[in-house]
Amino acid sequence: MIRCVSCGAEYDDDEVIYTCEKCGSVLELVSDIDVSKDIFDGRRDTLWKFKECIPVDESKIVSLDEGGTPFCKCDKLGEELGVNLYVKVEGSNPTGSFKDRGMTVGMTKAMELGVSTVGCASTGNTSASLAAYAARAGSRCIVFLPSGKVALGKLAQAMFHGAEVMSINGNFDEALEAMTALALEKHLYLLNSINPYRLEGQKTIGYEILRDLDWQSPDRIILPVGNAGNISAIWKGVSEFYNAGFVKDLPMMTGIQAEGACPVTNAFRKGDRRVVPVENPETIATAIRIGAPVSDIKALNAIYDSNGYSETVSDEEILDAQKLLARTEGIGVEPASAASIAGLKKLVDQGVIDKGETITCVVTGHLLKDPNTAIDACTKPTEVDADIDTLRKLLMNK
Ligand code: F0G
Repeated sequence: MIRCVSCGAEYDDDEVIYTCEKCGSVLELVSDIDVSKDIFDGRRDTLWKFKECIPVDESKIVSLDEGGTPFCKCDKLGEELGVNLYVKVEGSNPTGSFKDRGMTVGMTKAMELGVSTVGCASTGNTSASLAAYAARAGSRCIVFLPSGKVALGKLAQAMFHGAEVMSINGNFDEALEAMTALALEKHLYLLNSINPYRLEGQKTIGYEILRDLDWQSPDRIILPVGNAGNISAIWKGVSEFYNAGFVKDLPMMTGIQAEGACPVTNAFRKGDRRVVPVENPETIATAIRIGAPVSDIKALNAIYDSNGYSETVSDEEILDAQKLLARTEGIGVEPASAASIAGLKKLVDQGVIDKGETITCVVTGHLLKDPNTAIDACTKPTEVDADIDTLRKLLMNK
């Protein structure tokens, strides 16, 4: 069953519907978990090990073996910050971001519904992922990208997997508005995170974190927030497993935004449950360069209901954290993902996070998604002949 998060109106699972017809709010799937957690043991470690908890037709699954991502204990960085730190590395998914979890479920639903064309607007990763899953399913794929604001790796993926790519003269919010209008005219099936089936895939990040901690909840989950789907999805996941009795506690959901694109943090600071859109969002973390997040209600509910928090970080703090994670722990992430680490650092400094807390930072996309920003942050390699004497001198002088 699909239910409106605001007025509770109910819709059938097979209705192609993105927002509530009665009040216009966002929708969610209502799923009951009536299995024992032991059922997951011994299965291959992909998202579909949780298939009983994902409300789609198993015979239609479109998958690239997503999920089951690394859960790295980060002792060096954790010690530096005085917390017990784990990093959930979503860049290890097939197309290099957490979006694959949403797309495997979203494309499976598309197959179930028998649609032939899928589409999304994207800051990059959603389009890269959708292009790959649409190729695997044999569907036509249309993506709208904000012109000049999509990192190179993501653009390459969307184009290479054969999506029809439109470079929109406008920002992500405007591209999404246009894409949504076309979806409502039934030209395509919309696979942005307003589609509640996307979040049914992404909620498995929450499942896995609890499983990875041997069926315990971390004190806190920290992640970057853009369109606000992922924080909502992870909260749904951990809540479902909590309600099923698989864990005794719930984590404080902590959403980090870039200073130049922070409608959710602004709302949190005022105690509101809806955002006031930011007109011209700007940040080096192009993945989260979003001013009007569609899942604002769900995200703010998640933050308030979990006794969580929201904070902003500057572009400089993001780039510093990206390098810190790469050079202290060997985990390479794109700028948006590093917002979670930057946020952790800031909230420890502010005393919002207590020393000794068990923290899971979700890092959402791979370093190679945005090679330009990575190269710009480094000193150029020295050009030198393959002459051993010269090389020895150079190395010894370091
Ligand atoms: N991190 C990365 C790497 C992302 O690509 C995104 C969103 C987010 C975090 C934020 O997640 O939107 O669920 O709050 N990227 C979308 C896209 C908007 O089009 O790829 P969110």
